[in-house]
Amino acid sequence: MFRFVTGCFMVATFCALSIATVRASEVNVYSYRQPYLIEPMLEKFTDETGIKVNVLFAGKGLVDKMVQEGDSSPADVLLTVDIGRLSDAVNQEVSQSFSSSVVNANIPSQYRDPDGHWVGLTARARVVYASIDRVAQDEITYEELAGPKWAGRLCTRSGQNAYNLALFASLIAHHGEAETIEWLKGVKANMARTPQGNDRGQVKGIFSGECDISIGNTYYMAKMRTNDKEPEQKDWAASAKIIMPNADGRGTHMNLSGAVLAKHAPNQDNGIKLIEFLTEDIAQEMYAETNHEYPLKEGVGISDMVASFGDLNADTLDLITIANNRVVASEMVDLVGYDE
Ligand SMILES: [Fe+2]
Repeated sequence: MFRFVTGCFMVATFCALSIATVRASEVNVYSYRQPYLIEPMLEKFTDETGIKVNVLFAGKGLVDKMVQEGDSSPADVLLTVDIGRLSDAVNQEVSQSFSSSVVNANIPSQYRDPDGHWVGLTARARVVYASIDRVAQDEITYEELAGPKWAGRLCTRSGQNAYNLALFASLIAHHGEAETIEWLKGVKANMARTPQGNDRGQVKGIFSGECDISIGNTYYMAKMRTNDKEPEQKDWAASAKIIMPNADGRGTHMNLSGAVLAKHAPNQDNGIKLIEFLTEDIAQEMYAETNHEYPLKEGVGISDMVASFGDLNADTLDLITIANNRVVASEMVDLVGYDE
């Protein structure tokens, strides 16, 4: 499950020895974010500071691992996506509060935990993917997706996926629980197929003609359009356009990527230095250009590709509210049989 990239995590005794002896010049990162994205930034960090970065990548289980490791955990920084996972780290008590004038200057306060346990690094818009051939409109709302117009035409990934739960949690905040359940029932009734796959898989469904419309994050479309390794994804992406939902109203739902400082960080100062670095221009520009996310630092631009998706009017609903509504959203997904 875990993939080791650099450093000494594979051999516990050597690892413990090396952390103990060269603590001042290392930082240990547990990352849910994929290697191709963050490795170039971490190399820059090492170039600038001389601090060596050891990274443990995994798709899941890192917070549980930190819980099990307790105060002997080598983790200094956890990098993850979604407010749900950030708040999960806080709730499982693997984070610690910290304050940094650099972070505070770079990241607007609505993207930072008021208690200092997590810091947002980038935002990502959860938009509508629509068939270029079969969907004429260029404006839409999330609410409309439950309407009869889309019967048998909608595809999404699992309702329990973190990105979908955060979106549903935002609908609960805007409309209340009763209306959101009805909305979920409508969306479920419109499904062209059982929820499956990831965000890219929905675009493939549009390409194949299985579905006409879906929900996904902006950067996946950008990644598919530029995917030289799997060029078939360029064909999928060419069949779909992005519509920014609720652009004229409350705005498009955003999810967050971010960092926490580990509760038992053995290299605490270096961990803070790394988080600070990830909020600075150079890293924020890399997030924007390499992964086509929205940088949070004011003055850092978006990529040309993301600009081509249209103007962003971001929903400003606070992230704590979204995090708090996630459990109810998850229960609703089961209640309406979303994934069945
Ligand atoms: Fe993602």
